[in-house]
Amino acid sequence: MRDRRLRYSGIGAAALLFTLALSATLGQRASQAPLPAWMNKSLSPDQRADLVLAEMTLDEKITLVHGTGGFAQSGSRSNGGAGVIEGIPRLGLPDLQLADSAVGVRAAAERGRYSTLLPSALGEAATWNPKMAWAYGDVIGRELRDQQYNVSLGGGVNITREPRNGRNFEYLGEDPILAGSMLAQFLKGLQSNNVIGDVKHYAFNDQETGRNIGNVRIGTRAGRETDLLAFEIAVTEGQPGMVMCSYNKLNGDWACENSYLLTDVLKKAWGFKGFVLSDWGGTHSTVKAALAGLDNEEPGSRFFGPALKKAVEDGEAPLSRLDDMVHRILRTEFAAGIVDDPPKGRVVDPFRGADTAQEIAEEGIVLLKNANGRLPLAANRIRSIAIVGSHADTSLLSGGGSAQVDPPGGGASRFGGPPVWFPTSPLKRIQAKAPNAKVVYNDGADRASAASLAKSSDVAIVFANQPESEGRDSPTLALPENQDGLIEAVAAANPQTIVILETGGPVSMPWIGKVGAVVESWYPGIRGALAIANILFGDVNPSGKLPVSFARSDADLPHPRIAGMNMAGGAGRGRGPEPFDIDYSEGLKVGYKWFDAEHKDPLFAFGYGLSYTTFQYRDLKADAASVTFTLRNTGKRAGAEVAQVYAELPPEAQEPPRRLVGWQKVPLKPGEAKTVTIAIQPKYLSTFDEQKNDWVMLPGEYRFFVGGSSRSTPLTATFKP
Ligand code: BGC
Repeated sequence: MRDRRLRYSGIGAAALLFTLALSATLGQRASQAPLPAWMNKSLSPDQRADLVLAEMTLDEKITLVHGTGGFAQSGSRSNGGAGVIEGIPRLGLPDLQLADSAVGVRAAAERGRYSTLLPSALGEAATWNPKMAWAYGDVIGRELRDQQYNVSLGGGVNITREPRNGRNFEYLGEDPILAGSMLAQFLKGLQSNNVIGDVKHYAFNDQETGRNIGNVRIGTRAGRETDLLAFEIAVTEGQPGMVMCSYNKLNGDWACENSYLLTDVLKKAWGFKGFVLSDWGGTHSTVKAALAGLDNEEPGSRFFGPALKKAVEDGEAPLSRLDDMVHRILRTEFAAGIVDDPPKGRVVDPFRGADTAQEIAEEGIVLLKNANGRLPLAANRIRSIAIVGSHADTSLLSGGGSAQVDPPGGGASRFGGPPVWFPTSPLKRIQAKAPNAKVVYNDGADRASAASLAKSSDVAIVFANQPESEGRDSPTLALPENQDGLIEAVAAANPQTIVILETGGPVSMPWIGKVGAVVESWYPGIRGALAIANILFGDVNPSGKLPVSFARSDADLPHPRIAGMNMAGGAGRGRGPEPFDIDYSEGLKVGYKWFDAEHKDPLFAFGYGLSYTTFQYRDLKADAASVTFTLRNTGKRAGAEVAQVYAELPPEAQEPPRRLVGWQKVPLKPGEAKTVTIAIQPKYLSTFDEQKNDWVMLPGEYRFFVGGSSRSTPLTATFKP
């Protein structure tokens, strides 16, 4: 009895507090504030949205379908992030505070905030570990809330069709199934913090050159099986609240007024219930865009403010469409929990974020070459270490543009500025691992002096960088500023030279035969230096695998030159004089599928990455639903292997030779063996049938290949569905 009374009074107190809190939001006195019906959490997000919608005036509806500026510009209610969609206090609807958050919550230095710089998204993909993707999203979701944002503008999943794309570091590689699956986990981690998640840039914004004028041309089947498949998996499995449409055109229509993309595919075929917002300035019309399926214009109201109101009043845009736009935004707010549980704001815990950043970096760094067991280094046998280039005495590179995170203390340059180097010192971390060695830094500006330091040192480590940023592509795969020449010079002086790459995407390596070891660290984030040192000295056994193919040279790519690169104004933010076509004539043959189909040898294949131990694959059994095999660690160190499953479809399918259909990251102790079963989704064995407008799995013989990279698959088995 006593218990029950206590419980009752507990509920009463909670309800009272709830009413008080809500009353504060609504600006009314507690005694006058019956709960609006839509605050009843037992209703579905759609029911709650309908209840609010029924109360709204036309002006209030228009308020929700556009932004009011960003970056705390004067007159804007923006919290400092890229945008704000004003809420409606009368109805208890909060402002939507939008922050860029591709690799961490973006700079807002003027307010003295700090966010964790995670490894680049491509580095996250290189872990091939869904748990790492979840953790990545979780850090961003938590730190968004801490900084009182309730909407993320992360979630880039444009596949690496163009390996020189300046935004590849924000994306998840060239394979749609790997990229889409990792993004789905990212979204789950992010949205577990009660913030709205985003998927962008929808779709085919695969290069920055001419992004505001380029017209991508690609067929339906090729589009659905490549770029759009990545989005499909992210949207259907990750259930994001938003999708951001991109700047470019697709087959003649701007992405943000493309009814095929926004309505036929996203909303109808995939059943997306959230809302579509335009990339910043990516809206081009009022009625056409609204009818095509755009739900929200960012960052202003040129088309979806008074112009949309008038279009509705004049009957050019049906009110039912405006209601659908608003319903989608409202249901997303309820589904994400931002109305029931608004972010409170508190100081970010940088140590917690950094711990996760380090874990992801350590799992995503890829060991590309290790001649004669050059690595790991044995600290007690080394007397001197030369460290050359890339500010490796103090820092490591981060990616630029809207994904730029401020370094601690602030001060990242604005959009388009020079690259930002983060304070995480490889020199100090390496010195700490080898306390008895003399560790000396040379900036590499004078090759001869770098070479002479390397010659007189037991170990030479060259740090090589490729800065990438939104708004510009790398003109070639070559490392910029003739770092190839620096590496050649150091390697000639010390043949056991180790190269650490800090790159946004793949680069060419004309010196590959002349160096002892190569480590791809991507942009490894705020704890990057420690992660690199842990790999170099063997405290961590590398387990990352490439989520992108590395070509030997630009000549081996589907497009040896980036479309539009030669146009005036074609690079930069891409507002060139004349629109132009970007023909994706390679169609299905993206990344490794291109190299396989064209019988070209990549420098490093998709899925490739070395370990300090070795693995053996045995005893494959396959059926349509799964493969099972035995994986053994045959070396002396504990390690993790990313076991990969590729499928060859029947010849009638007319597909590239093989596609990734499953994988699992398997940790193994020395000598340990595990039976691994990997489920294969039927869709991943299917092709897109344009006549049926659906995925179909053809009859015939399917062959599975299992192994440690797309080019190393010791096990094969066939099955007929
Ligand atoms: C980028 C988006 C970004 C937006 C807001 C645009 O330039 O393409 O990715 O979210 O700006 O900063």
